[in-house]
Amino acid sequence: MYNLLKGKKGIIFGALDENSIAWKTAERAHEEGATFVLTNAPIAMRMGTINLLAEKTGSQIIPADATSVEDLENLVEKSMEILGGKIDFVLHSIGMSVNVRKKNHYTEQNYDFTHKGWDVSAVSFHKVLSVLKKKEAMNQWGSVVALTYMAAQRVFPDYNDMADNKAYLESIARSFGYFFGRDNKVRVNTISQSPTATTAGKGVKGFDGFIEYANQMSPLGNASALECADYTITLFSDLTRKVTLQNLFHDGGFSNMGVSQMVMEHFVEKQGK
Ligand SMILES: NC(=O)c1ccc[n+]([C@@H]2O[C@H](COP(=O)([O-])OP(=O)(O)OC[C@H]3O[C@@H](n4cnc5c(N)ncnc54)[C@H](O)[C@@H]3O)[C@@H](O)[C@H]2O)c1
Repeated sequence: MYNLLKGKKGIIFGALDENSIAWKTAERAHEEGATFVLTNAPIAMRMGTINLLAEKTGSQIIPADATSVEDLENLVEKSMEILGGKIDFVLHSIGMSVNVRKKNHYTEQNYDFTHKGWDVSAVSFHKVLSVLKKKEAMNQWGSVVALTYMAAQRVFPDYNDMADNKAYLESIARSFGYFFGRDNKVRVNTISQSPTATTAGKGVKGFDGFIEYANQMSPLGNASALECADYTITLFSDLTRKVTLQNLFHDGGFSNMGVSQMVMEHFVEKQGK
């Protein structure tokens, strides 16, 4: 370990179970010397095992529905009390689509579900940033990261309305990041991660085929949740102080591929040539 986050204080959203990207990030942040508060939606607390993570990392848990500004205000205030000062890093690792859950086709959405998923997956990021800024909760050169997926730029049909939510989320990172950078020297970025076998990931139709396809397309193979955590730690560290307003691909090279030898061979075999 490198002590990259020694003395830094943070808030980590979205650790549901040990597969969660946020869970791995919390473990790595702890190893790198950070102290932080863990948070998740009250309902997820009942389903998940976040208490184990809190014990392991010596952290306190504050429940917050990320769509509720009131919950977020309480979270940010209490976090500063618990951690004894302003915040250096925040991870937004939140995603949910009711249309995906209910297996509604992208072309035939229930718009109440669309609205809910958009609020949870995208607007919640604006709310988090807004509360942090209003409360002057971030230290200078602090860093906020949200997780996204490449369906924001390219078509992945089964990603459904989450594609639109991710496009919106990435735009918030740029638009809000401008003001947060200008006024408070806080950086805001999104990490566009490979398909990863988590609760949210596995909820996407055809996930098994899809994750293998991405793996075979990427020269370095898919990035794991732990590797995503490692990358996130670098963005929380002082080594990346001038990186902001970026959507950063962490996908083994997938996003710049057209086709790979392995995928080609699959189709050549199929044709019996
Ligand atoms: N798994 C993948 O393939 C993949 C790929 C790229 C990006 N991502 C993104 O990574 C992030 C983390 O997802 P994950 O894959 O670790 O899955 P996960 O299911 O472990 O995490 C999603 C989290 O969102 C939380 N959440 C849902 N509604 C909430 C609310 N109202 N308030 C607060 N929290 C809420 C859940 O409780 C859960 O902890 C998401 O933004 C996801 O879209 C995932």
